[in-house]
Amino acid sequence: MTGDALAVEDLVVSYGNRRDPLRAVDRVTLRVARGETFGVIGESGSGKSTLVMAIAGLLPVARGRVRIAPRGGDLTDAPGSVGRDGQVQVIFQDPMLALSPSLPIWRSVAEPLAPTSFRVPTRLRARAVELLRQVGIGPELAGRGPAQLSGGQRQRVTIARAVAADAPLVMCDEPVAALDISLQAGVLRLLDDLRERNGLTYVFVSHDMTSIARLADQVGVMYLGKLVEAGPVRAVLREPRHPYTQALISAVPTVSSHARARRRALLPGEIPDARRPPSGCRFRTRCRFAQERCAVEEPVLGAGEAHQVACHFWPEIR
Ligand SMILES: Nc1ncnc2c1ncn2[C@@H]1O[C@H](COP(=O)(O)OP(=O)(O)OP(=O)(O)O)[C@@H](O)[C@H]1O
Ligand code: SF4
Ligand SMILES: [Mg+2]
Repeated sequence: MTGDALAVEDLVVSYGNRRDPLRAVDRVTLRVARGETFGVIGESGSGKSTLVMAIAGLLPVARGRVRIAPRGGDLTDAPGSVGRDGQVQVIFQDPMLALSPSLPIWRSVAEPLAPTSFRVPTRLRARAVELLRQVGIGPELAGRGPAQLSGGQRQRVTIARAVAADAPLVMCDEPVAALDISLQAGVLRLLDDLRERNGLTYVFVSHDMTSIARLADQVGVMYLGKLVEAGPVRAVLREPRHPYTQALISAVPTVSSHARARRRALLPGEIPDARRPPSGCRFRTRCRFAQERCAVEEPVLGAGEAHQVACHFWPEIR
């Protein structure tokens, strides 16, 4: 038995038709150890959501494979989307997408326990109410609909639902981005406690470096569908090797005008059209260090190293 809960190998996920495809995830390879959190960062449009949806079986894979280890088992090729439900759960940014507006929240939580039955056995109802209690939603709220809750409470309900499904692997796609800042820390703490208590493995997408630093063990940086840097979170955040990662990190915090100006200097322009990515290194049109070689030769992540970077010149520009 390996220690990995997830292996993504050479994964390609495309949108659009075959003649003019948009490769939103382009040959991504990564591994996540059991019980760990793999953080994913990158600008808007870099392919983070596409990656987690493909892992969850919610999008078709054009090339490569996704292998998932069931509890106590070895990595095996992930079954189709239906089978993957029991293996992977997704917590989205907008909890309303995951909850039925017409059902009381306890029923949504019980859904993975009793997906088809019209009448839910009392025992399963009690289990759902108990799971809600574990995420900080008291029994007095269990009969309400999702519209009658706050955003933070709704996200807690979707987390209880993910726990009810008992999937070993959970994709968290910006789970607190839509919440009031005062509620974010509590929900993040809850997610981390549940991971530890239930032996879960997370892929955790976030724009917020502070949450990544707090929750993730490993982190991957995406740019235009590619993983450009990956490694232990401390190493990547403290000593980023890729010019793109360096720019992303230097842009935190972005509240001061000084920080914003610095970000513009390090990360000029917008992310290019994903249908027509630049040749060679995709970051070259925005990279201060680009040289001729960058336009003709694509840099690849160094295999076998803990801290990997896809840049021809990283040792020189450090
Ligand atoms: N359903 C879709 N059809 C066509 N293109 C799509 C679709 N969904 C996403 N894309 C494109 O795929 C690329 C990756 O999008 P994705 O949503 O995965 O990015 P992201 O990193 O999650 O961005 P954000 O931080 O804004 O959530 C973008 O170029 C986007 O425009
Ligand atoms: S390979 Fe070249 S263009 Fe790409 S990040 Fe490195 S220096 Fe910049
Ligand atoms: Mg997204």
